[in-house]
Amino acid sequence: MSVQINDLELLDAVRDFALKQTHPMVDKFKPAIDDWGNDWIDVGQAYLPAANLLQDAIVNGNPQTRDLLETFARHKDRLYWEQSYKKEDGVVSDVMLAAYGFAEIIGKRGPFVSERIRAGLGIYGPDIVYPRHRHQAEEIYIILAGSAEFKIGADAEARRSAGDVVYVASDIPHGFRTNDKSLVIYYLWQAGDLRQISNFG
Ligand SMILES: [Fe+2]
Repeated sequence: MSVQINDLELLDAVRDFALKQTHPMVDKFKPAIDDWGNDWIDVGQAYLPAANLLQDAIVNGNPQTRDLLETFARHKDRLYWEQSYKKEDGVVSDVMLAAYGFAEIIGKRGPFVSERIRAGLGIYGPDIVYPRHRHQAEEIYIILAGSAEFKIGADAEARRSAGDVVYVASDIPHGFRTNDKSLVIYYLWQAGDLRQISNFG
């Protein structure tokens, strides 16, 4: 199957959102996001309940993030929503598993294939604790809607809200607690195994 116009709309939205950011840590990721490669793979569709939290998140978003949220909301039923953890892994709670998911747009497995960068949207429902974990890749979260208390490395826990950028260096433990609304984040990974399952503890 060839790439569809509406897939390209999503790709453009994801690329353009990163490229227009002015945060210096996002600048580190721009060469890779501007050069995502030319391959596209049909990854199919997969549903998760978290996808349905997008609509509320649009209401709670801000003017800088609303366009991207609306683009994802239009595409949500044709995306491949996934989770990195399973109940039997015992690393995250049932509350988290019931209300979280992510849709990757650029990455090692596609749909837009890149060996250099991973980019997509993550959704975490209200009152979720994402325990501290770490991975080799350095990471950016850009908060699109909602807020969470982030704990990054040795830094004090700090609230980050829509429009904020959170940078996590390679192998630094990080985690967060969402508040009473869904948290939606745009994530970027680079410089590490782009499909690594995080280490906990
Ligand atoms: Fe992470």
